[in-house]
Amino acid sequence: MAKIVGGVATTHVPSIGKAIAENKQKDPYWSPFFRGFDYVHYWLAREKPDVAVVFYNDHGLNFFLDKLPTFAVGAANEYRNEDEGWGIPVARAVEGDADLSWHIINTLVADEFDITMCQEMLIDHAVTIPLALMWPGGKRHPVRIVPVSINTVQHPLPSLNRCLNLGRSVGRAIESYARDLRVMIIGTGGLSHQLDGKRAGFINKPFDKLCMDKLAGEPEALTHYSIHDWVAEAGAQGVEFLNWMAMRGALTGQVTEVHRNYHIPISNTAAATMVLENRPMPKRRAA
Ligand SMILES: [Fe+2]
Repeated sequence: MAKIVGGVATTHVPSIGKAIAENKQKDPYWSPFFRGFDYVHYWLAREKPDVAVVFYNDHGLNFFLDKLPTFAVGAANEYRNEDEGWGIPVARAVEGDADLSWHIINTLVADEFDITMCQEMLIDHAVTIPLALMWPGGKRHPVRIVPVSINTVQHPLPSLNRCLNLGRSVGRAIESYARDLRVMIIGTGGLSHQLDGKRAGFINKPFDKLCMDKLAGEPEALTHYSIHDWVAEAGAQGVEFLNWMAMRGALTGQVTEVHRNYHIPISNTAAATMVLENRPMPKRRAA
């Protein structure tokens, strides 16, 4: 049976892709962020995932404002990237796992999530940059992916609770999948940032800390915030935390935070990285 080994959450701002392309990982501006991945590399080498389910938000490369699904799941054996106009190199195509995708899609629909299923899907920097951070060097990634896009762009957005439950459904799907796979979950985006308007450059460090403190052990506490509360606390683009909530929801066992890195600012964004481990719940003894 498939097993969920844990989750990694990370920022995905495009300028990270440019820093990688220009080999700036050790520059004083960038090193506090890139150093946060040393532990992630150790963890991935130890856990050896076969597949990564990636919760992210599309930025207009695949979906635009005229047609924007709340939740979309990729069901392809390959996902291509294209030039998004940020001046970052186009990333190589990433291998998919269509069979696992369809199993997840079937479970989500049975759980009454109305999703869009995509047998063709372009992936943007919100997928390619986290993969490049986790497996640097430009080689073919050692994992296949199942991309799950969540609308964080055009209101109305799904609630934090809805995204937590979406993740839980994905987690149940993985655990009921018959192939012996080691599956990791990725959530990308955030943390607090606002890119336009009067509050451009807004960052809320205490609120980011609260989010990271609650994510592993008490994610339900964060579901009391409405989306409008979230925009007030974390900025207009801080709602990308919805992807982190879905990642957390997919971790179905005993969840422990084993790593966090927080650095401000990178490109007007609070840059954060977390690793959450997922272990089976201890079996209850009969009374
Ligand atoms: Fe983004």
